Parts: sequence; C-alpha cells; structure tokens
Amino acid sequence: MLTVHTLADWRAQLAAAPAAPIFVPTMGNLHDGHLALVKQARELVGPAGAVVASIFVNRLQFAPHEDFDTYPRTLARDCELLAGAGCDIVFAPSEKELYPEPQGYKVIPPPELADILEGHFRPGFFTGVCTVVHKLFNIVQPTLAVFGKKDYQQLMVLRRMTAQMALPIAIHGGETRRSDEGLALSSRNGYLSEAEKVEALRLSRTLKALIARWQAGERDVAALEADALQSLRDAGWAPDYVTLRRQHDLGAAVEGQPLVALAAARLGTTRLIDNLELS
Ligand code: PAJ
Repeated sequence: MLTVHTLADWRAQLAAAPAAPIFVPTMGNLHDGHLALVKQARELVGPAGAVVASIFVNRLQFAPHEDFDTYPRTLARDCELLAGAGCDIVFAPSEKELYPEPQGYKVIPPPELADILEGHFRPGFFTGVCTVVHKLFNIVQPTLAVFGKKDYQQLMVLRRMTAQMALPIAIHGGETRRSDEGLALSSRNGYLSEAEKVEALRLSRTLKALIARWQAGERDVAALEADALQSLRDAGWAPDYVTLRRQHDLGAAVEGQPLVALAAARLGTTRLIDNLELS
C-alpha cells in the first residue's frame, strides 16, 4: 500500500494508473465501520482495480466550538488497518496541501436537505462536507465512492450533490457497523468513559422502541418523537432530535413509503448520532 501526501504525487499516480479508482473518504481514526467500507470497495472493484482511501480532518465542517483540534489523528495506525482491509493507496494531504489558501469557493447544498436535522444543529456542516468531498472527487477522480449509512443525511446530501453536479461518480451506501451490543461504531465513541459506553446503547434502543410503536400501529409521529426525546432526557442525555422521516428526502414520515428513524444526542460532552431504516 502506498501513502501519498501531495497533490503532485497523487496526480503522478493517477496518470500511471490503468483504471479509475474506487474511493472511500474518511477523517481517519479508523474503526471497523470505515474498514467495512474499504472491504466493500475492494469487492466492488475486483482484485485488479485500485481502492483509494483519504484521511483528512476537514476544518471546514467543524464549528468553532467543536472538536477539530482534539479530533484524534492516528495516521500510522490507520495506514496499518487500511493495508489489512485491502486498500491500495492512502491519500493523506496536509491542511496546507488541500487548502493552500482560504477556501473561498464552496459547495452550498440546498437548505431543504442541508439545513434540517444535522444541518439545523450544526450550521454550515454540510457546506463543509460538500466542499471537501467535491474537491476530493476532483482530485481522486473515482468512478465510484463509498459512504456509510451511519451518517444517513450526509450520504443523502452527497448523493444529490453528485447527481445535480453531473459528477460521473456512482455513490454506494454501506450499512452501519455496530458493536455486538448495538452501539454504532464512531470515532467519537473514543471520548466515552466505560460507563458512558454502556449508557450509549440507549440511543439505538430508543430508535428501536420508536420503530416498534410505529409498527404496532401508532401514527402520531409527534407523540412518538416527544416520548423518545423524553426517555433520553430522563436518562440524563441532551438530545438534539429523535425523528421519523421518509428515507427518500428526509421529509415528514408518510405511511407506505420507506422510513428511517434518526437521532442525535449528547451524552456528557460527546455528541452521538444514529439511525435505523424501517424494513
Ligand atoms: P468519517 O466520520 O471519518 O467517516 C468516514 C466514512 O465512514 C463516512 O462515509 C461514514 O458514514 C462512514 N462510517 C462511520 N462510521 C460508520 C459505521 N459505524 N458503519 C459504517 N460506516 C461508517 O464522514 C466523514 O468522515 C466526513 O464527513 C467525510 C465524508 C470524510 C468528509 O470530510
């Protein structure tokens, strides 16, 4: 496996490559969720194709009060894990390399997709995500990119960006990887104490309970959401949202359409997100 740090070196690689790569963008501090995406990329491209992962902690998608400075940077370990998962090239640019000057040109996603849910509680987050992913797409020039359903809204926003900008890139959504107990794997789980890791299971249980009540016939979505929020608050959490939406555009839940339950909540100082699709 090759690790490339500069655009010039990457472009030399690309010029010499026999085929366009498959791409898995990440911010590093990798866990089995990221590695599952890399393994899927490997399967999708076959043994002869190239799998490229990027590692870049993107300042543009962090608000000033968020954890940009403390976000764990573990490049050497990440590279070992990526090699084991079947990655061919790691693109790990420095901030100066990717943003040599302030990024004045940005990709601003439409408010109806990007200012709700995560975007409501993290203003500008999806502009930061779209800008860096668009830029990484221009650099890496993949035919296919793999993103996790763990970040459900992010996957949807990036799918629409790719379609609306007519980028010649297929987007593949990988299933959320969880611990045996059901906690969605996340780099931010590393911030949790041992006791909090146990308590963190409540988030997926809350989504499951909401879905069970919908499936049992309860159609008062506002009541389902309010009860779920209250059960988290009662357990000491500070929830941002728990909601039932339709999968297609994250609009209001409509019976007969594929739905997804999504939640974001702070446990102590750690903000966790999770979602479950209704089958
Ligand atoms: P990061 O949080 O590092 O996640 C990289 C990719 O891994 C994303 O597509 C995310 O959805 C996926 N992922 C994270 N946890 C997962 C899990 N438990 N199961 C399956 N997939 C999981 O998401 C980002 O980075 C950034 O916003 C990025 C797209 C790289 C742009 O900076």
